[in-house]
Amino acid sequence: MCGIVAYVGKQEALPVIIKGLKRLEYRGYDSAGVALLNDAGLNVYKKKGKVSELENFIESNPNLHSHIGIGHTRWATHGEPNDANAHPHYSASENFAMIHNGIIENYEVLKTDLINKGYTFHSDTDSEVFINFIEDIYQNNNCSLEEAVRLALHKIVGAYAIVLMNKEEPDTLIAARKGSPLVIGVGEDEFFLASDATPIVEYTNQVVYLDDYEIAVIRDAKLQIKTIENVETHPYINKLDMELEAIEKGGYEHFMLKEINEQPRSIADCMRGRLDSRAGRLILGGLRDYMNKFQNADRIIITACGTSWHAGLVAEYLFEEFARVPVEVEYASEFRYRNPVINSRDFVIAISQSGETADTLAAIELAKQKGATIFGVCNVVGSSIARATHAGSYTHAGPEIGVASTKAFTAQISVLSMMALMLGYQRGTLPESKYMELLSELEAIPAKVEKALKLNEQIERIAAQYKDARNFLYLGRGYNFPVALEGALKLKEISYIHAEGYPAAEMKHGPIALIDEEMPVVFIATQDSSYEKVVSNIQEVKARKGKIIAVVTEGDQTVRKMADHVIEIPRAHEAFVPLISVLPLQQLSYHIAVMRGCNVDQPRNLAKSVTVE
Ligand code: AGP
Ligand code: GLU
Repeated sequence: MCGIVAYVGKQEALPVIIKGLKRLEYRGYDSAGVALLNDAGLNVYKKKGKVSELENFIESNPNLHSHIGIGHTRWATHGEPNDANAHPHYSASENFAMIHNGIIENYEVLKTDLINKGYTFHSDTDSEVFINFIEDIYQNNNCSLEEAVRLALHKIVGAYAIVLMNKEEPDTLIAARKGSPLVIGVGEDEFFLASDATPIVEYTNQVVYLDDYEIAVIRDAKLQIKTIENVETHPYINKLDMELEAIEKGGYEHFMLKEINEQPRSIADCMRGRLDSRAGRLILGGLRDYMNKFQNADRIIITACGTSWHAGLVAEYLFEEFARVPVEVEYASEFRYRNPVINSRDFVIAISQSGETADTLAAIELAKQKGATIFGVCNVVGSSIARATHAGSYTHAGPEIGVASTKAFTAQISVLSMMALMLGYQRGTLPESKYMELLSELEAIPAKVEKALKLNEQIERIAAQYKDARNFLYLGRGYNFPVALEGALKLKEISYIHAEGYPAAEMKHGPIALIDEEMPVVFIATQDSSYEKVVSNIQEVKARKGKIIAVVTEGDQTVRKMADHVIEIPRAHEAFVPLISVLPLQQLSYHIAVMRGCNVDQPRNLAKSVTVE
């Protein structure tokens, strides 16, 4: 995964790079490094651990002044997290240094060839092979570095976003991408390159998104982009729509807490200008040209990973209930390797917060080849998935920095709810009166979310009682089944407590064997069409002395008599309850993780955007 940053221009490069790397740390934090070029030469400084450890390591070094540099924060794929495997990597001659985000699939063959030619390696990474492969071409062809990069890219198999520096060219950066993201910020006589726009936003709002198989050369304060076939392209300058405050903590202890609390606003932002219940209006600009395909699709296939996949499961209930169209929800990683049956009458929805998830991107490519229409539901504007799909609707949740997804999930469900209502109305499966009622119900959600978030202190007290539990079960039915999965995932990823989510009724087919007085069971038992059944499941757990934490509808008296703890959330239409019932589960996992001393925003082994398969 990794985050990469590079700078060339009039400012001091190091502070720009360090600040940028800190913004990108959500992408990986195994090690960090920079390369700078000045009178002392081309020097690489790198260290295992977070960017702050790199800062301490270089603190007293006198040679850090430079107007050009590259930096990297790593999520290891090849070789353990240590100093040697950290990026940047030098080429053998130490004339070039490179940062790389991605995976080189044919690195072993290339490495063997290079070893046979006498090259030695200082790291276990595929990236060091890559830079030496470029250097070898450079030496054998007596060509420029950019030409060597171009030739090398024809032979490289895998994914990459790279930036190179050349000792002999103190005003030149060379970058290229395929599969991993790269944004170029265009300032006045200065350029910023990064994995996403967050390191760039405070300097310029003019950005160019590099495309796959493009090589950018920044030389003498000019940007030139060519394809790897050596054809010049004319960079399209996009205007960044991102506020600096949106990527800072704003007084909260953690990004995750800030993002949980932003949900009343992020859901409202997602619906703003799209949904107006009084006027009976629902518009999703992205669907306009594809409404016909959407309406007449034989089937909807939803593909995603992790939390986004859970949002897809909620959407399955929504689409089937309101629009009576068959839906399949697929893990992107499985879908692409299963030779799935897809045709041009399928409408595929790809859901992704980051818009960079490699598995989801690959699933999109496959469905595209088979002729399906692909619609993206992404949060990051200009991301690879947003650009690879035929059309899409952004979730407009604002930057999500905490690795555990929270506000992106509710924004995804908001977009998918609007899509389902539109489809049901257009297909005539939702009568006008019902449609109007549901529009008002959906519009009322942000206020209910605001109210539900006030339960925070109660949830903190519950967290204190269960923070040392070794296992958790999360159970729900219907619309709340995906919420149970999401609650369990949140707890696992940030507190490292083993947790399982199940459809409540499945409990009796196996997991019930786990229940004893040590097992906390979180029930999402709101008053909906399966409420009575869930109440019976609660009884079953109680009979086996499990500890019951129940999320219920305000005013519920029945569950109160059985549960150890009840969390009362505002009443809502059952189709939109996930937007509210997930909130206490997000808060519960947050508090448990904080109490256990875990790194909430950057949990171990994880990264925010999974750009490797
Ligand atoms: C969520 O908390 C996870 N960190 C993870 O499951 C995530 O949802 C998944 O990697 C998909 O990411 P995407 O939405 O950016 O595609
Ligand atoms: N494959 C490179 C490494 O392990 C880059 C990692 C990545 O971008 O995920 O260092």
